[in-house]
Amino acid sequence: MKGLVLSGGKGTRLRPLTYTGAKQLVPVANKPVLFYALEDLAEAGITEIGIVISPETGEQVKQEVGDGSNFGARFTYIMQPQPLGIAHGIKIAQDFLGGDPFILFLGDNFIRGGIVAQVNAFRAQAMDAQIILYEMRDPSSMGVAVLNGEGRVEKVVEKPKQFISPYAVIGIYMFGPSVFDAVNNIQPSARGELEITDTIQYLVDKGLNVRAHKLTDAWVDTGRIGDMLEANRLVLDVIPPRHDGIVENSVLEGRVVLEAGACVKNSKIRGPAIIGQRTVVENAFVGPYTSIHKDCLVRHCEIEHSIVLENSRLEDLPTRVADSLIGRNVQIHRAEGPTKTVRLMLGDFSQVGL
Ligand code: TTP
Repeated sequence: MKGLVLSGGKGTRLRPLTYTGAKQLVPVANKPVLFYALEDLAEAGITEIGIVISPETGEQVKQEVGDGSNFGARFTYIMQPQPLGIAHGIKIAQDFLGGDPFILFLGDNFIRGGIVAQVNAFRAQAMDAQIILYEMRDPSSMGVAVLNGEGRVEKVVEKPKQFISPYAVIGIYMFGPSVFDAVNNIQPSARGELEITDTIQYLVDKGLNVRAHKLTDAWVDTGRIGDMLEANRLVLDVIPPRHDGIVENSVLEGRVVLEAGACVKNSKIRGPAIIGQRTVVENAFVGPYTSIHKDCLVRHCEIEHSIVLENSRLEDLPTRVADSLIGRNVQIHRAEGPTKTVRLMLGDFSQVGL
């Protein structure tokens, strides 16, 4: 069985971060979200993995991810010239996939508990496809599946206007080679993409054996800031504490990871939290569910429930920063001049809550 990981796309919902970087490389507990998918595949014994990349962010993804040796796997990069849909990602990977069954994993999906059970279920039974379902009270913004009594998929509807079932289809799918007939025959949707829901429906309409696995553990599609923070919470909740940095005159409570060269002075860190390599935290409070990446400075300020990317500086802030996703090389500091003013230089599509 092979793996196919989609790491292209537009990432419009995570602008402005995605103007300069791939959304799949945004870190969760200081590790790119994409790495969790690659580790899940390796853990399930899938080591031949194709990674679909885009012209805009492909080089960055290649550099971060490498050839697979760090994951005990072998990666083949497949360029998708335009983001023409998830099913288009399968279509352009046909040569790589050959006739092998494969697992398609969207590179921005995060699943706690891995995929071993689902892969074993797929391997154990003769199926043409297996989708993974997540029960939600309101799945109307997702693809939704209706099952028959025997666990076979009867239909899949993209963003149904009326409630048809509580089962949202998540971004991890398993297919046999019959999927190529589907992706080569479906037509682009109104938004111009080859849709994965249409692909699954095509297989169902052909009478093929499409089954579903219901997920009991947590799953997050990290397309928006709130979802990134949720994935960050899930990982930090179970991260093993480790102190490879320097601590001076400070209090560290709960699960705290200090990566090599991190320095915490005259500060309080209330875990779960992670402080990246060479980052300095001085006269500061870092609260629960915070991930601060490498080479940052956090001085005279308070921050909680946030993700800060590398090489950013937060200094002398009059109010606590919370629920935030802060990019690379960002500087936030107290403004000179009259009080009750803010001075901003923000990229397109930035969001600020005051
Ligand atoms: P989406 O989140 O559906 O799309 P997107 O990345 O373009 O984001 P947004 O909606 O915010 O603009 O994509 C799911 C995953 O699949 C994500 O990792 C990107 C990847 N993808 C591709 O690689 N190629 C594609 O053509 C599409 C649509 C997505």
